Amino acid sequence: MIRVQGDRVTDASTTQAVANIGVVGLAVMGSNLARNLASREGNKVAILNRSRSKTDELLAAHPEAEFVGTFSYEEFAASLAKPRTAIIMVKAGGPTDAVIDELVKVFEPGDIIVDGGNAYFPDTIRREKAVRETGINFVGAGISGGEEGALTGPSIMPGGSDESWITLGPILKSIAAVAEGEPCVTHVGHDGAGHFVKMVHNGIEYADMQLIAEAYDLIRRGTGKTPAEIAEVFAEWNKGELESYLIEITAEVLRQVDAETGKPLVDVILDQAGAKGTGAWTVQTALSLGVPVSGIAEATFARSLSSHPEQRAAARSFPGPDEEFTVADADAFIEDVRQALFASKIIAYSQGFDEIRAGAAEYNWTIDNGAVSRIWRGGCIIRAQFLNRIADAYAEQPELPLLASAPYFADALARGQAAWRRVVIAATQAGIPSPAFSSSLAYYDGIRAERLPAALVQGQRDFFGAHTYKRIDKEGTFHTQWSGDRTEIEAEDTH
Ligand SMILES: NC(=O)c1ccc[n+]([C@@H]2O[C@H](COP(=O)([O-])OP(=O)(O)OC[C@H]3O[C@@H](n4cnc5c(N)ncnc54)[C@H](OP(=O)(O)O)[C@@H]3O)[C@@H](O)[C@H]2O)c1
Repeated sequence: MIRVQGDRVTDASTTQAVANIGVVGLAVMGSNLARNLASREGNKVAILNRSRSKTDELLAAHPEAEFVGTFSYEEFAASLAKPRTAIIMVKAGGPTDAVIDELVKVFEPGDIIVDGGNAYFPDTIRREKAVRETGINFVGAGISGGEEGALTGPSIMPGGSDESWITLGPILKSIAAVAEGEPCVTHVGHDGAGHFVKMVHNGIEYADMQLIAEAYDLIRRGTGKTPAEIAEVFAEWNKGELESYLIEITAEVLRQVDAETGKPLVDVILDQAGAKGTGAWTVQTALSLGVPVSGIAEATFARSLSSHPEQRAAARSFPGPDEEFTVADADAFIEDVRQALFASKIIAYSQGFDEIRAGAAEYNWTIDNGAVSRIWRGGCIIRAQFLNRIADAYAEQPELPLLASAPYFADALARGQAAWRRVVIAATQAGIPSPAFSSSLAYYDGIRAERLPAALVQGQRDFFGAHTYKRIDKEGTFHTQWSGDRTEIEAEDTH
């Protein structure tokens, strides 16, 4: 195909296959990822974007990257050495399908198409199946770290076939963040496993952010400290077991002063949190897998609640507690909040890893939770010192049934539970919403309970729907003849 490109003529039939990797989609993520790739030894990067202006701009702005600029799919394919490998970084959804359709036309069996966007994992499973029929490999790769991470080193969660990992592994290792000497990328599992794990990562991120926000709110309303003073509390916390990127940036945000009003920036930002949907996907998927990710769910719902100003206005006159909320000992209260935050965070991560375990079982993926925790130690939004402890826990017991039960975390929960209860009580009495703190504590008490009122729920289910029940003292499935003489009979298990 011959095209006029600016003042030069390009011809795909004469284009040399000089690039070992290509990037399609050159908005902020794609252009930064392309620059990252180009900066690593041994990579030659071909670039393509739907509208040519972004390609022209990237070529002009970064001559040092020595990109191979291409302006058609034919030219793009011709510029890539075999097996051709292309990373798609376009708007998730229809645009991803549109680009895949074009690439499939110009690629050959054995070539590799990687979707680095935020795809919903069932879409990745569907795409992988369809593309595999052409003999081309399709890899859904979750990429975390935002635009900065894409440029300097993200955490990468690729799925797809073992064959594609052979070619792709070294390329992705060359651009990933490095934590404790290890690149933050691993072959997570087949087809949609990478995007599934990225989805859960984002769900955990929602929970972590909400917990931090609740901690800030409680400290501010309980102690009267200013945002700048609370920034110092977070900066201090960042030196201990809570050390993480999210705690670090929280201090930065709280320190920021609005240039226009001179007020703390956090006080002039509208209190309505947005969401791009990955938290909701994590919760929807957990619901269908039967995994209680209550921390992630509460965090997602908290954003929804904040974003309904009309309902909030309608409820504003609802009464709260009569008494003013002030804590007697600010330092002691702050320490309680720190412990409550750490305990709740353990629960949120434990629930997230539980969802990965259940997803792997459901979709027949072999996912190494220890490897996942190691690739989250750098590059991604939830990067934290804490992930080393998770990696240790899975190294010690790969089939750990509940992350929170690993000795390090169980000890931390035991140490923190009294403070955690005090904080939830204080929040409840003060009328300060703390859905993520409270739900994590409820999960903790639920999962450790000797006996749950689920027995009564089973009785109710049997009463109105003959759903049967099991007994604690003998094998079998039973039903009480509620509408008859109320004698118990053996029955078929109907759940
Ligand atoms: N931003 C982040 O922090 C972040 C973090 C992780 C993952 N991601 C994911 O990374 C991907 C890229 O994100 P982004 O923020 O850089 O870009 P974006 O705003 O999501 O998408 C813009 C890009 O998509 C292209 N595009 C849109 N419709 C298209 C179509 N029908 N056919 C071909 N190309 C089309 C655009 O091309 P034109 O220039 O021609 O319009 C442009 O290159 C997304 O899936 C996003 O969810 C983003």
